Parts: sequence; C-alpha cells; structure tokens
Amino acid sequence: MTDPQEFDPTTLRSHQWYGTDGLRSFSHRARTRQLGYLPEEHLGKPVIGILNTWSDINPCHQHLRERAEAVKRGVWQAGGFPLEFPVSTLSETYQKPTPMLYRNLLALETEELLRSYPVDGAVLMGGCDKTTPALLMGAASADLPAVFVPAGPMLRGHWRGETLGSGTDMWKYWDQKRAGKIGDCELAELECGLARSPGHCMTMGTASTMTSAAEVLGVTVPGAASIPAVDSGHSRMAAAAGMRAVELVKRGAKLSQFLTREAYEDAVTTVLSLGGSTNAEIHLIAMAGRSGVDLTLDDFDRIARTVPVLANLRPGGAHLMEDFHYAGGLPGLLARLGEKHLHLDRPTISHPTLREQLAGALVHDDDVIRTLENPLAPEGGVAVLRGNLAPDGAVIKHIAAEQHLLQHTGPAVVFDDYKTMQKTIDDPALGITADSVLVLRGSGPLGGPGMPEYGMLPIPDYLLKQGVTDMVRLSDARMSGTSYGACVLHIAPESHVGGPLALVRTGDLITLDVRGRSLTLHVDDEELERRRAAWQAPPRRYGRGYGVLYEQHITQADTGCDFAFLSQPGEVPEPYAG
Ligand code: FES
Ligand code: MG
Repeated sequence: MTDPQEFDPTTLRSHQWYGTDGLRSFSHRARTRQLGYLPEEHLGKPVIGILNTWSDINPCHQHLRERAEAVKRGVWQAGGFPLEFPVSTLSETYQKPTPMLYRNLLALETEELLRSYPVDGAVLMGGCDKTTPALLMGAASADLPAVFVPAGPMLRGHWRGETLGSGTDMWKYWDQKRAGKIGDCELAELECGLARSPGHCMTMGTASTMTSAAEVLGVTVPGAASIPAVDSGHSRMAAAAGMRAVELVKRGAKLSQFLTREAYEDAVTTVLSLGGSTNAEIHLIAMAGRSGVDLTLDDFDRIARTVPVLANLRPGGAHLMEDFHYAGGLPGLLARLGEKHLHLDRPTISHPTLREQLAGALVHDDDVIRTLENPLAPEGGVAVLRGNLAPDGAVIKHIAAEQHLLQHTGPAVVFDDYKTMQKTIDDPALGITADSVLVLRGSGPLGGPGMPEYGMLPIPDYLLKQGVTDMVRLSDARMSGTSYGACVLHIAPESHVGGPLALVRTGDLITLDVRGRSLTLHVDDEELERRRAAWQAPPRRYGRGYGVLYEQHITQADTGCDFAFLSQPGEVPEPYAG
C-alpha cells in the first residue's frame, strides 16, 4: 500500500473513463457536466460508489436513503467524488419465497456494477440479513477497496412493561396465541411494539450476526455494528466510512488484503461468542469462498469447542443490541476475547493491526458482555453434526435449545413439505408426543427453493397447551437467527437431491447426540438401499427466468449455497473504457 500523500490520480480506474484524451473520456466528462458537476468537483478524485439497499419496502433500511447523504459528506470532505447506486433490496420480512433465493443475485449485481462503472472504491450499505453477505461477496470478487456501513439495529421493542425482541418475541407470542394464552387485543398491541424504529432486527439474529462479522473482518468503521440505526452516532459513522473509503483508494488498498483466512477465522470465533445465527455457517463459508479462503463447517465446530459465549443477547440470552452497544459493543467483546481467541496482528481498514484497533476498548456492563471467567456458556453455541442422516453435515444452535433434548432418541414424524406440515401439525391423529422427532424435508437450497427459514417447526398446539416448549426437529431448511429450539438445520445433502433425509419414514428411530456430534437414523444399510432404489427425484420447478440459473448453479449448504460459477477461481478482464 502506498502513502496517501503520494497518491497519483492517473492510476485510478476512473481515470480510464474521465482522464484520457479520447472521444469516450470527452463523452464521459460531457455527461458529468449534464449531471451538474464542475470539472474541479470530480476530475482526479477517487470515485466512491455508494451501493445502497434502501427501498420503500424494507423497514430495516428505511433510514439508508437519508444516511447515504452522510456517507457522501464524508467522501466529499476527504477529497473524493461520491456516486450513489441503488441496488437490489432484500427484505427478510417480505421477499418470497425467501430472500436467500436472491442473495447471490445481489452479490452478482454488486460485483458487476462495481466492475462496469468508473468506481475506484465502494461503500456498501446494508444490514437486513442477506444484504450483508451479498454485498461483501460481490465486493470481494470485484476486489476494490470497500467499506461496509451496517444499517444498525432498531431500538428495543416494548409491550406492557416488557422489553421485546423483534423476531424472537414474535415467535413466542404467536405460540402463546396458539395456546390460547393471549387474544386479538394483545396481538394488535404487539404489532405496534415489536419493531418501533428504523433498523434491522435487534436480537442477535442473522442481521446483527452478519454486521458484527463484517466489523470483525475489519471492513467497517470500528464499533459500527452495534450503533442503533437512529442514533446520531450512526450518521457520524456513515461519514467516517465515506472518508475511509477515499483514504483506502489513495493508499491503493484492496479488500483482499483484509479478507484473509485469519480474518474469517476471527469472524467465526466472534459469531460463536455472540451466540449468533446459524445462517452465519452458510454466509461466512460463501464469503470466504469469494476471498479464496477454504472455510468449512469443521472450522466452525473446531472453533466452537474453544470459544465461550460472552454476549448475553437474545435469543440465547437476555439483552438486545441497544444494551450491547451501551455495554461497549463489539470492540468490548473482541477486547475480552483478546489474544487467546483472535488473530490480533492482522490489518483492518482503519488500523495496521486489530490489536491497535482494540486498544482502549472497554466493557461497561459485565452482565451484557461477560468475562472469560463468567461466560454465558463455556463453549460456542453451535455444533456440527454428522452421521448416516447428514453425511455432509448439519448444524444445531444448542445454546438456544432445552438442554434435556441434546441427547435424545425418538420416533420420526415426517413431513414432505412445509405446506402439508402447516396444515396437519395440529391434528392429534398424527400421534405426535413430546418425544417425537419432527422431520421436515423438501426445504433445502433446491427443495425450498432458497432454503427458507422453516427449521423451527411449530410444536403441535395440543402439546403447547400441555406445557411442552421444545422438541427435537430436523430439516434441510435454515432457521431465523431470532428463533430457538432443538432444531437440527442445514442437513446436507438435502432431500431434493436424494440425501438420506429423503429416505426417512414416519416411525423410524432417530438419535440426536450433540455431545457426540452425531445424527443417526436407526435403519440398516440394506433397507436404506431399498428405499433409495425406489426414490424418485422431484422435477425441476422453473421453466424460465432467474430460477433456472439458480437451479443450475446453486451449491449445497455445507459449501455456502453460492453459485458454483461465482465461487470458482478465475480471471475476469477489466472492461475497456476508452
Ligand atoms: Fe430485516 Fe430482521 S427483518 S433484519
Ligand atoms: Mg432473519
């Protein structure tokens, strides 16, 4: 990297568009006059593309339209030229069948947009679940200097004197309604209290997990991930991100200098210590793949055995992101993990080393961010399971489950798809008991399609009324980061491609053994072979459109559900701008 003082504007990518003698540069300059800019406002300056996932339908990003102005302010102040690009918005709440179907589309858009326009560096604005991995996957492939601006968590929810967590308490009170404990009045009040400000989900769900991962990867302004979306500090962070992007361009930095194997291992360590979402297993593996880092489920399991859970945040713990921010946020937690658990000598976008970035970081509340001596759990909250039912792996977030279920054998009750399950789950004729193992298939990357968050199967209402609050549930689906329960997820290979999950029948005995890291179907090999011979692959769904591309190229959960042609190594030529 060079000294920013020695920055030579003719080395900028954008110089090819604006600074040469040819007809095209003349045309690009004329079009910039058309945009209303003077030559001295932009010529010779780093162009910072601000990729904004704002849209009217995404409540988690509703402040990002205005927040982009703070990023631009920072870019101008540092001597850059900001250009905002609206990119696809992935709204976790609204997009069907699931925004996971479109994560790779946003990643592809991000990469190609950065490559095809006169962009020297990028600021990536996102936070709602899939937007963070998508933006970072695309930016990693484009490998320009980039800064991530996390949307920030929404404020705490409130209802009748209780603090509510979005997602987590939505599931909880919906079950209470199904059990007849609350009625329509309470539900109408809850609608107003669950999510009451701009910002992403404020539990340690997928959004907070992935924005925290971005921070520990070293590609945000330090401390950015926990700043509440509506805090004035969020605007200051956005301005600082704009300044940093210009400085990175002037230094000749590239994203790949920060997104190293050590950085990804630290991201795994951190999301485990946060009690983060199981979606991180998929997203971090996909992101690492774009960085040429071979991160695997085994890395998660290995690290999980050594890392204590320090963040006391819902759904595994008690508090919310706003509390985490006031307690010292990620810098406080990372300082506690320290040398013992992190690689402190790697660079971040703002400091030569993570060690220097964390110098002086404090924790202000030992209940929210626990000490190493008094963790919420002595080891990471996630285990990777294997066995004849999951040859390529499955995951369980065991800290969010009732502990007595972590070693359990029970008879399977199998559902072939989510709709059938929804229709029949409360029917006592199925004979489901608290000991049953609920099995959902047809919900993986291809089967879902898009691997929807169906993994927290509902408990039959008659069992809820008896006071049953958790059961062993298995699927090839994902689970929302705000969910909880003894749910075995991401079973690979999925049933849709003929994984062993496709062969389970109601009544088969299944053993979940979290300590032994195994998931076993007690059916002998000959019988399984007979069932396999009779199994028929379901037909492909899509006759045209994006779905065809998806079905042809999507990979399984254990390798991150990227498109194979996007994760494979290979050269992409720079576009000719002259
Ligand atoms: Fe956007 Fe939860 S719905 S983060
Ligand atoms: Mg979610």
